[in-house]
Amino acid sequence: MKIIMLGAPGAGKGTQAKQIAKEYDIPHVSTGDIFRANMKNGTELGNKAKEYMDAGKLVPDELTISMLLDRISQEDCGKGYVLDGFPRTIPQAESLKEALSKRNEAIDYAIDIEVPDEVIEERMTGRRSCPSCGATYHLVFNPSSREGVCDACGAALVQRADDQPETVKKRLAVYHEQTKPLIDYYEREGVLKCIDGTQKPEDVFAAITEVLK
Ligand code: AP5
Ligand code: MG
Repeated sequence: MKIIMLGAPGAGKGTQAKQIAKEYDIPHVSTGDIFRANMKNGTELGNKAKEYMDAGKLVPDELTISMLLDRISQEDCGKGYVLDGFPRTIPQAESLKEALSKRNEAIDYAIDIEVPDEVIEERMTGRRSCPSCGATYHLVFNPSSREGVCDACGAALVQRADDQPETVKKRLAVYHEQTKPLIDYYEREGVLKCIDGTQKPEDVFAAITEVLK
């Protein structure tokens, strides 16, 4: 099963993609996580991406597309995957479609998690992430059992550099301009499924599994 997660920054793509990956036993491929891992390891790609990410801008397509296509050609992606944060532009979607069609493959579902902009800001400022295992929490909506400590691996939780209010505003503007057109794109492709993302995380997940049946 090949699934794309669509939705604004903070809509809950990562939260849901992790659960989908577990439920269907397919890899969770997050371009944001790959860039952050590269930044942490100080790679050339990470250094280039950091400049854009910290400013709330998109990393250029020429860096992003090849990285993603390389990732999904790896063996663990053979039975499918859930893409989180890719595609984010029409050229990215076209490149993905072209690469898949060469192998007689196509995306099965594009799941759009719908959350109004007003709700987003609250979610982003309260988010805490584990720099070690990638788990995500929210101070109010999804707290860890011990404040500031990851339930899964015990590392100290951090706030992402791009979750400052001003950067969140910029990311939302970029989303509306460059990424939102993908909703119409996947509607035309006949694979779009829209989910109300303002529900509790477990109810969002139940709605997703219902459409994947
Ligand atoms: P990326 O890491 O993909 O960030 P994003 O799209 O901005 O999305 P987020 O990770 O912020 O939000 P999310 O939807 O995953 O929400 P989450 O589940 O964490 O990208 C970062 C940057 O990398 C980009 O800005 C860009 O620079 C670059 N980049 C990445 N991919 C790229 C590409 N393809 N092309 C170019 N550049 C690229 O949830 C958010 C919070 O809300 C959490 O605290 C969570 O606990 C909470 N929450 C989740 N669901 C609910 C719920 N139902 N109710 C209440 N709270 C909830
Ligand atoms: Mg995410």
